[in-house]
Amino acid sequence: MAELAINGGSKVRTKKFFAWPHYDGRELEYVEEVIKSRVWFAGMRGADPGTKTEEFEKKFAQYHNATYGIACANGTVAIEIALRAAGVGTGDEVIIPALTFIATLSEVLQVNAIPILVDTIYDTQCIDPNKIEKAITDKTKAIIPVHYGGFVCDMDRIIEVAQRYDLIVIADAAHAPGAIYRDKKLGSMGDAATFSFQESKTMTAGEGGIVITNNDELAEKCIQYRSCGRHEGESWYIHYVMPMNYRLSEIQSAMLLAQLERLDDQLKRKNENAHYLAEKFKDIDGINPVLGDGGTDVNGFYLYLLQYGKEKFAGVSRDKFVEALNAEGVPCHIGYPWPLSKNPMFQQVKEGAKGCPFTCPYYGKQTSIKDQEFPVTEKICSETVVIPHQVLLSSRPDMDDIAAAIAKIKENASELLY
Ligand SMILES: Cc1ncc(COP(=O)(O)O)c(C=O)c1O
Repeated sequence: MAELAINGGSKVRTKKFFAWPHYDGRELEYVEEVIKSRVWFAGMRGADPGTKTEEFEKKFAQYHNATYGIACANGTVAIEIALRAAGVGTGDEVIIPALTFIATLSEVLQVNAIPILVDTIYDTQCIDPNKIEKAITDKTKAIIPVHYGGFVCDMDRIIEVAQRYDLIVIADAAHAPGAIYRDKKLGSMGDAATFSFQESKTMTAGEGGIVITNNDELAEKCIQYRSCGRHEGESWYIHYVMPMNYRLSEIQSAMLLAQLERLDDQLKRKNENAHYLAEKFKDIDGINPVLGDGGTDVNGFYLYLLQYGKEKFAGVSRDKFVEALNAEGVPCHIGYPWPLSKNPMFQQVKEGAKGCPFTCPYYGKQTSIKDQEFPVTEKICSETVVIPHQVLLSSRPDMDDIAAAIAKIKENASELLY
């Protein structure tokens, strides 16, 4: 008789894990305040004095040790705003990891620059600083490290390389609100960091984003790009830079204020549970959590990343294992299926109607993303099992169930071979 739930056996878990998105009376109270105030829009520059958006920007920036926060519509446009504000554009190369969400790359294209993909480090799944240096050319203008899953990249090394070559560093911290690395918060590393508040993220208003920075000039430009290219104190109809409307609404900011208030507690719980589970996994050969390079004080834990060794599970494929673990009642998925270069969009090199940015005369070079190989990222993509962050917000006994489900699959792995 089958033991595994995928084959009709009983599940290890029938109860749900922590429900996401999470809210309590605070979201309801702050949103009600906004609704009743009839101020639903944060003003012509996107954060008028006294608005929830202004309050959220200040609190989020301070929390990360940054001077400025520029809230915006989502984490994708946060990257675009930061790149434009930093002066990245036509003919520039921007170094990004091969392992990330498409937004890190699409926004480089959006400003008509060229994304240069770099391989990652197996143990951290972050961009490899040694390979960054090899990818630098006279066209390189910026680096976008991605704090994948919430684990902060080796920013000391990345910033050191960037300073030597006079490059801008904009961290894509969509996965990492609240992360601390070698005693430093995300606002004190690099020129800017961008975040996403889309529904699956660790703080959310359904959608939303923010750029944080300590640079006065960069902040002022971000404000302009966020809201129709306007200048402080000037007319609604005078526009100084590329006029986009990327503002966040007051309702979203109200929700984010509430989400920020509980971030510390949630990070504490997730970090504790992740380490508790890591201890349990020591008894399960073939499951290794990605816990960073020793520099992590607080992991942002958007994703709990596990490296799966199929040879220790009787040769059962990672994808089959993921199916079996879901069937046991533990939500998980495979994460990014491949390095970004493998996406169908790169089968055709041209993006814009005239082939820009790849064929742009200001670039004057040929780059073919589809032909590039990223062996470490390939390996990561073929072995990783991703447990979403809300699972780590559950209780201690819930963690025991995760370990029990994995141990059960290992014990009965032969059931999955046929
Ligand atoms: C690494 C990374 N960067 C940027 C984004 C874009 O954020 P948004 O969905 O808010 O546009 C995401 C979203 O999943 C992401 O994972």
